[in-house]
Amino acid sequence: MPLVIAMDGPSGSGKSSVSKGVARALGLRYLDTGAMYRAMTWWMLRQGVPVEDAEAVAARAGEPVIEVGTDPDHPTITVDGTDVSKPIRTREVTNAVSAVSRVPEVRERLVALQRRIIGDGRIVVEGRDIGTVVAPDAPVKVFLTASEEIRAERRAKELAAEPGATLEVTQAEQARRDRLDSTRTASPLLKAADAEEIDSSAMSLEEVIAAVVRLAESATETTAATTTRAEERTQ
Ligand code: DC
Repeated sequence: MPLVIAMDGPSGSGKSSVSKGVARALGLRYLDTGAMYRAMTWWMLRQGVPVEDAEAVAARAGEPVIEVGTDPDHPTITVDGTDVSKPIRTREVTNAVSAVSRVPEVRERLVALQRRIIGDGRIVVEGRDIGTVVAPDAPVKVFLTASEEIRAERRAKELAAEPGATLEVTQAEQARRDRLDSTRTASPLLKAADAEEIDSSAMSLEEVIAAVVRLAESATETTAATTTRAEERTQ
């Protein structure tokens, strides 16, 4: 099984920083699937599609051409050739993304694209359904959590430049998004039965990265040992 590290968890749990750090430490690629749902949402809003109308979203889900880079030092994302790395982080997109990502046609299209990018592995993939749906055979699965307060603080820092994004507003918006992401019918945010849960509330970024690197190393050693035993049996 090629090395795929599936990194799932709610918003603000630290998935992006941890995933990029792990990818750098192990020389792997990095895929931010949340950015793909955000890019789809940005395009829908720009086209004037009413995002709460699942049928309207489904009807247009096949149109935008979304391209994502996998270099952890320079993650890129374009829609129809336009760089959208900044506009997909605005509050407008953040508050609309759950409505778009619950639509099965959107998920089918993006999951197919994600599997193509994952290809033969050597990649850290972050999202909500990576260990459960996108890459259920990934040898390393992490479910990253943090307390609601810590997650809201992290998000508020990211949104510091946005007018009105106080800690209270951010916490309420985030709670709403987590509720929508966890209760939708299509691939809700779920911890895979075989995922390792890491609560990052009281850990530094470096500590979390080191913990995931250890998991990856022990998975690689287990795979190597199993392969050697299988080879010995066939000799
Ligand atoms: O990780 P993020 O906050 O950038 O993700 C944005 C949204 O995209 C999130 O609220 C739910 C959706 N998402 C998803 O449904 N499935 C994924 N694999 C990744 C993100």
